[in-house]
Parts: sequence; structure tokens; C-alpha cells
Amino acid sequence: TGQVTYDPGFMNTANAKSSITYIDGDEGILRYRGYPIEQLAEKSSYLEVAYLLIHGELPTKGQLDNFEARVEHRTLLDERFKRMFDNFPRDAHPMAVLQAGTSALSTFYQDSLDPFDAEQVRISAVRLLAKLPTMAAYAHRIAQGHALLYPDNRLSLIENFLRLTFGFPVEEYIADPVVVRAMEQLLILHADHEQNCSTSAVRLVGSAQANLFTSISAGIGALSGPAHGGANAAVMDMLDQIQAENMDPRDFMEKVKNKEDGIRLMGFGHRVYKNYDPRARIVKKIADDVLERLGVNDSRLELAMKLEEIALKDDYFVERKLYPNVDFYTGLIYKAIGFPTEMFTVLFAIGRLPGWIAQWEEMVHDPETKIGRPRQIYTGHAERPYKEMGERT
Ligand code: CMC
Repeated sequence: TGQVTYDPGFMNTANAKSSITYIDGDEGILRYRGYPIEQLAEKSSYLEVAYLLIHGELPTKGQLDNFEARVEHRTLLDERFKRMFDNFPRDAHPMAVLQAGTSALSTFYQDSLDPFDAEQVRISAVRLLAKLPTMAAYAHRIAQGHALLYPDNRLSLIENFLRLTFGFPVEEYIADPVVVRAMEQLLILHADHEQNCSTSAVRLVGSAQANLFTSISAGIGALSGPAHGGANAAVMDMLDQIQAENMDPRDFMEKVKNKEDGIRLMGFGHRVYKNYDPRARIVKKIADDVLERLGVNDSRLELAMKLEEIALKDDYFVERKLYPNVDFYTGLIYKAIGFPTEMFTVLFAIGRLPGWIAQWEEMVHDPETKIGRPRQIYTGHAERPYKEMGERT
């Protein structure tokens, strides 16, 4: 009751008190649990950051070993689960497959669905962290028509994921350490970003006391949109198109500025960052390292750098404070590693998973949580009598 505030896109409405992630969009600062993103990306592993986000503190050596063992021993998927994956059309988008698979975890793990049972939530979180990479790899393999490998739990989660994605049964697959490290770093950079669209979706669904798997699957749905997680794939499509049409980067930028056909410079702009996205700087460095290590000479990297150079000097972008965001260069790295464009957003989902889990748990434990239920400003008809079929035109 009381006054209803009209705030489309929740530009000025906080839906949560949160102690997980701090962003200063004007200064370009991002911290998880107080730790600067630059330091975490440099020093941590993906599971270490997952532990930090979920438990609130960096793990001791013993805590991390234990957490890794718990996750790495749960990467297998039930055979029935695999058959479900087999039945999706070959050309299904892997994000749709991942969302369906995540949702289906509720059917396989009915022993861990109670949001208010701390032990059940722990095990659900571990299952998600372990099985999402396997599902992602299988979604990719099925699209390629390739055999599904068994996880090899002697490997780290990320090495295992790369092997499940790119390995073949007949030969040993050893991931390049530079690639493994780059993957860890990219996942860390995506691990949380406070109340973004997908995280808000996870919280909103969870606020109705839906279980963790179901809530996370809602987040995957939100992330699939091109204005959110789909942006990394959209950047690649944009670069491909500019090249295919042999377009001058300056002409493309003119189209963007004139808002022709509503095109935007994908990978630029952010609701919160009105400065260089701190993650974008780190990503650019990873792109240089990985492309050099793999000996990949991708002309799209030069094109992306050219677009950035033009944008940073152009009044349109300067006035609107539009800078490269985390996704401007990630696609080029994923391409160099061997991922098809459809997989980019799936990688974002694996990265964001720890943040979704941490935010969902924070919401569940917050005594001030209420079911998410926005108000509206009604703009429809006033009351009118039912019109019989014969009277309708
Ligand atoms: N290219 C050209 N113009 C843009 C862009 C862009 N990428 N982004 C914003 N603008 C313009 C927009 O047209 C508007 O101009 P005007 O004032 O003349 O109407 C102004 O800048 C403000 O834009 P907005 O849409 O009101 O800003 P927003 O906060 O609602 O949108 C955004 C943020 C990320 C959706 C938007 O910048 C965008 O669409 N960017 C491209 C897609 C993208 O890269 N998304 C990934 C975001 S980072 C990863 C993630 O969190 O998922």
C-alpha cells in the first residue's frame, strides 16, 4: 500500500541488501566479498572464488581441497539424464539445452530440494558446480554429433570440462596450461555482478521458495538474452558481419550512431559501469596471451580494437559514457580455444553460477526477504460489459 513508484528496469530500486559484490560504476571498481577483481583473477582458481562467494571467506588450503574434492567427484551425469540430452534436436541452442538440463536436476536429486535445509542446499550447490560444465560439454558434443566422454575425476574441474568438450576417446587430451588458466580467469571475471538481470531472476524465482535448481534455471533463461549474457555471441556475430560485408569500421560506427535498424555496438555500454569495465581490461590481456600462445592470428581482434579506438574518441560514446564491457573481447578468446559462437553464453553461465548460488542463499537467509512482487501502473480499459461473440467486430 502507499505510493507506487514507477521505475521500469528497476533503475532506482534496490531489491536486496547484499554483502557479496561491490561495484562502483563511475570509478570502474568491482570486488567480491571485498577482494578486488584484479587480484582474484590473477591469483585464484574458479572453485576458490566460488567458495569465497558462497561462504563469504577465502578458503584455507584444507577447506579448498575438501571443496574441490566434493565438486570434482560429482561431475558424472546419470545415464538417463544423458539420454534426455540425446533427444533434443541437433541444432538446439546449447543455452536452451543447459536450461532444460538444470531444471531437470530437480527430478534426479529430489533429496536436496528444500531451500531451508542448509545441508541440502550445500549438496545442491556442489551438484550444480560439478554438473553444469559436464552438461555444457555434452550440449556441445551433441550439436557436433560427437561421442559423449566420461568425466575423468583425476582432473581439475576446468581441465575436465575442456577434455569433455574437445577430447576424443581414442587419444589422451591434455589441455594447454595457458588455456586452462585463461578459462579459470574468464569464469572468475563472470562469477558475480550483484543484481544483474539473471541474478535478479534467480532471486525472484527463489523468493517464491522454489528450489535452487529451478531458480538457477530461470537465471540461465535470463542470461540467454542478447542484451545480457548473449552479448558475447552478439559481438562475434557483429564482427563476422562487418567482415563479410567488407564494411569500413567507420561506416559501421556511423550506422550505430544513427541508430540505423536499432543496431548497437555490441560489447559496449553497461547499466552500471559509466567508465571502463574493469573486467574488460583483464580480458584484453587474456586475449593477447591466448591468441599468441595458440598462434592464432584473428583479423577480428584488429577489427575489435579499431572499433574500440573509434568509439573511445567519438562524442556519441563519450557523452553517453559507453565503454567496452566484459564481453567485448571474450568471444575472440573462446573462438581461439575452439568454442563455437553458440557456446559463448553457456560459458558465461558456468562463470555466473557461483554468484547465482551465493545470491540465492543470501536471499533465503535474509529475514527481510519477501516474495518478489512488483506493482504496476494500470493503463487498460475501465470496466466494460462482456461483448457477445456476434457483437464483436
Ligand atoms: N551502442 C550504441 N549505443 C548505445 C549502446 C551501444 N552498445 N549502449 C547504449 N547506447 C545508447 C542508447 O542508445 C542510449 O542512447 P540515447 O540516450 O540517445 O537514447 C544511451 O546509450 C543509454 O542506453 P540505455 O539502453 O538506456 O542504457 P541501459 O543501461 O538501459 O543499457 C545495455 C545497458 C548493456 C543493455 C546497453 O548498453 C546495450 O545494449 N549494450 C550492448 C549489449 C551488451 O554489450 N550487453 C552486455 C552487457 S555486459 C554483460 C552482462 O552483464 O550481461
